[in-house]
Amino acid sequence: MLCAVVGIQITSLGDFMTLDQAIGEFDHALRTISASAHSTRPIPGSDLPDIGLDQAQKVHVVGLMRVNHCGEICAQALYQGQALTSRDPGVKEALRSAADEETEHLAWTERRIAELGGRKSFLNPVWYIGSLTMGLLAGALGDKWNLGFLAETERQVEAHLDSHLTSLPVEDLRSRAIVEQMRLDEIQHAEMAIQHGAAALPVVIKGVMKTVASVMTKVAYRV
Ligand SMILES: [Fe+2]
Ligand SMILES: [Fe+2]
Repeated sequence: MLCAVVGIQITSLGDFMTLDQAIGEFDHALRTISASAHSTRPIPGSDLPDIGLDQAQKVHVVGLMRVNHCGEICAQALYQGQALTSRDPGVKEALRSAADEETEHLAWTERRIAELGGRKSFLNPVWYIGSLTMGLLAGALGDKWNLGFLAETERQVEAHLDSHLTSLPVEDLRSRAIVEQMRLDEIQHAEMAIQHGAAALPVVIKGVMKTVASVMTKVAYRV
């Protein structure tokens, strides 16, 4: 229905992938939601001292890192959806490569939550399905809009991480190192999208994206 409204032509799953690929993508989704992610790069800040935080600080930092972990679950789903419906092989490859870095962000935030004795969001499967749907739609709109959506997402994530750097305790060096490296990576992802021909999104779409992200961050901080 929505596809018809926005003029997207998707007749079947077979338009985009074989059955083997579909099984692989489903497996990827299940592993993202349920298994621990791995990082090929060293975890930022892992060589820094883990200075003891008081209980209130721990609860706050876990909340922030749970939001970031949840954001990385969404990033995985978005990139997966966008790569599946993107038409240009070069764009698909760039999306896959950026997704690999998002997997590392997933591993880093997950590790930090565990170090602080916290838990991940119960709603991760819901976030994943919602983000995958958005990614599939963005990809089907065509590469310039797909990349525009990606660039705007990454810019908003950068602003969000800036706010976390303000909110995180100054003595929490390990969390801060993770967020700082993630911020640098997200800036590169936005630049990658612009280099591949991202279109500027209408202001109203940017506003809707901010509203959705705001709801997600408020819920994931607690649930
Ligand atoms: Fe990320
Ligand atoms: Fe990113």
